[in-house]
Amino acid sequence: MIPVRIARGEREWPLSEIDLPLDLDRLVPGREAWEVELGVGKGAYLLRRAAEEVESVGLLGIEIVSKYYRLVRDRARKRGLTNVLLMRGEALYLISAVLPAGFAAAVHVYHPDPWPKSRHSKRRLFDVDSIDLVTGLLVAGGRLYFATDHPHYGEQVAEVLDSHPGLELRALPGPWPDGPRTNYEAKFVAAGKPILRYEAVRLAPGSLVHPAGVSGVVAATSPRD
Ligand SMILES: C[S@@+](CC[C@H](N)C(=O)[O-])C[C@H]1O[C@@H](n2cnc3c(N)ncnc32)[C@H](O)[C@@H]1O
Repeated sequence: MIPVRIARGEREWPLSEIDLPLDLDRLVPGREAWEVELGVGKGAYLLRRAAEEVESVGLLGIEIVSKYYRLVRDRARKRGLTNVLLMRGEALYLISAVLPAGFAAAVHVYHPDPWPKSRHSKRRLFDVDSIDLVTGLLVAGGRLYFATDHPHYGEQVAEVLDSHPGLELRALPGPWPDGPRTNYEAKFVAAGKPILRYEAVRLAPGSLVHPAGVSGVVAATSPRD
């Protein structure tokens, strides 16, 4: 497994030096709200939002590829964005083992790898088995934003989100009001590719687990099975 690293401003820690679950308010004090982006790539959206909300919002970015992690870390440093907390590691591992639950006002996932071959589909950030981990980051009323240029994957994700009893899904018909959010999106828009965009609101606790997700399977399986 890729060793996890965490950076804020000039400071950087390996996971072994961090108390778990991660105490976000200790690492980045004074935030009124937190937002999370999974698979930040070159960090265009994370860094822009962090600059816009420097006094109030903490932006937590997760990226598995070291080259992109270093690039975004260095840009955040150069721009003095001390409200960015950046983590290098695998998103679902970090969500399940490192991050607290129910803290984010928004989770952003833009153009995640679609892994179109069925033997690779377990690597997807979004499917029925991982959706509860991802949406579990949200506070009640928090919003998940998702975009993809991959129609088949987009439709599958929309189906998973729509069939979740703890979410209210809305397809967003046009471009984002703030323009293309990420490098990939800017490229796809320039090439005239259609993009699917969704917003899902997390409803109040009570029915927050997908009936076909892992927890559902575990709950439905008798010990003899
Ligand atoms: C297709 S790129 C999109 C990057 C950016 N969101 C954009 O729209 O420009 C997908 C990004 O997610 C990262 N990624 C893929 N799987 C990941 C995972 N399991 N955990 C964390 N990051 C992941 C990749 O390294 C890559 O930077």
